[in-house]
Amino acid sequence: MRILIINGPNLDILGKREPEVYGTMSLWDIENRLKEKFPNVKLEFYQSNSEGPIIDALHKALDGVTDGVVLNPGAFTHYSYAIRDAVAALKVPVIELHLSNVYAREEFRRESVIAPACKGIIAGFGVRGYELAVEFILKQS
Ligand code: DQA
Repeated sequence: MRILIINGPNLDILGKREPEVYGTMSLWDIENRLKEKFPNVKLEFYQSNSEGPIIDALHKALDGVTDGVVLNPGAFTHYSYAIRDAVAALKVPVIELHLSNVYAREEFRRESVIAPACKGIIAGFGVRGYELAVEFILKQS
């Protein structure tokens, strides 16, 4: 069982970035917590602040070995048709994830151009959201 967890722009500075919105855990803490929680799952982590490398990382899930993808596209959520197309090309489930409840925030965050290509969305449960997404993919397989 192999699950790819991709985080987009500004998620590398979690813990320092608007902690009142995104919490105080770093991305490193989140990744370690997931490894502890799912010791028997091969979790692969990737983070980039740029669109192209995120698309390249999504293409890796075409390999037939990856069982699902958890994707927090950051602000790309709201305008990246290129990431949406990369998600649409995948056969495995992709879960769009947001730490914050994007629907309770600014107007521009209420639209995701990527979500229609995803299996589902998890938003507003903080770091717990990553665990919920992994649990969903595990139960799918
Ligand atoms: C986010 C929500 C996005 O609107 C924002 O641009 C982010 C983080 C979240 O996890 O809540 O960078 O994806």
